[in-house]
Parts: sequence; structure tokens; C-alpha cells
Amino acid sequence: MKSKFFILSILLSLVYACTPTQESADVVAPIWSPEVDQPSELAVIMRVINQEGIERKASLENGVLSTANSSLIFDMITAQPTEPHMVGPAFEPHAQGFIYAYSELASATSVSSQIEAHNNLVKSCVACHMNFCQGPISRIEKLYIP
Ligand code: HEC
Repeated sequence: MKSKFFILSILLSLVYACTPTQESADVVAPIWSPEVDQPSELAVIMRVINQEGIERKASLENGVLSTANSSLIFDMITAQPTEPHMVGPAFEPHAQGFIYAYSELASATSVSSQIEAHNNLVKSCVACHMNFCQGPISRIEKLYIP
């Protein structure tokens, strides 16, 4: 009996999560507009790791070791892209390569070894982008530390 109720409440909460909230029906409904400007889950992760890369580069160029402890990178594999074709069978191996390069970055103990790891990481960004999303490549290449 108890477990039936449990299952029912899960089902109800799922339905609830997929329908607009009650309040929005009471408010004068705005004209429906598609959320074209909403970035996908994957795009949000990308913006964060790109920003992190910009900050890491500045830090390393000032001779300061940077922390690399973002757990977001693990979400890359399951995140929804803007368009389904933006990920494919080769996506996961690239994401794994990226995660490996990121762990090298995290375990670097000197500025020079972290610069090397940072540049390897940027290489792994570019490698995936060659396959799935060429647009930002020139932007990503600016992250290399010469
Ligand atoms: C495993 C593949 C993969 C790796 C690794 C990867 N990217 Fe991406 N990136 C993508 C895909 C696919 C998109 C398109 C996402 C979308 O639009 O939903 C994207 C989108 C982007 C965008 C555009 C986001 C926007 O505003 O719409 C930027 C900038 C970006 N990536 C930078 C980077 C940087 C910097 C790295 C490395 C630190 C990196 N990416 C690593 C696959 C990857």
C-alpha cells in the first residue's frame, strides 16, 4: 500500500515537472514565443569551461598556479546539445580525452607543467570541435599559451 502511494507520488511529480506551473495560467498569458535565446545544457558548460580557460591563461601568464576542480566537465557526456547532430558516436571518446587532459591540469604542481597541461587541454577542445562544432575554434585557439 505504502509503496503504491510512493510510486503514484513519483508519477505525479513527474507529470508536474513537465507541465507549466499553476500560477502562469492565472497571470495574463504573454504571447507565446519560442525560447530561441536559451543556450543548451552543453552550450552552458562550454561557456563556463571557456571562461575558466581564459582565467587560467591569465593566471599562468602571471606565474600563478591555477586550480582546476570543475565537476561540470563530467556532465559534458550527458548534456543536451542545441541540435542532436552536435554529438555523435565519436563525442564520448573526445569528452573522455578532454577529462583526462583536465585531470593532468589538476595534478600539475608547477606553473610550467600546468602551462603544458593547459595547452594539451586546449588541443583536446579543438580536436572535438573539429568534429562537432567548428564555429568557436578560432576563439578556442586564443587560449593557447605561447
Ligand atoms: C567532446 C567534445 C567537446 C569538447 C572536448 C569541447 N567542446 Fe566546446 N562544444 C562542443 C559542442 C558539441 C558544442 C555545441 C554545443 C551546443 O550548441 O549545444 C560546443 C560549443 C562550444 C562553445 C560555444 C558555446 C555557445 O556559446 O554556444 C564554446 C565557446 C566552446 N565549445 C569552447 C570549448 C572549450 C574552450 C573547450 C575546451 C576547454 C571545449 N569547448 C571542449 C564540443 C566540445
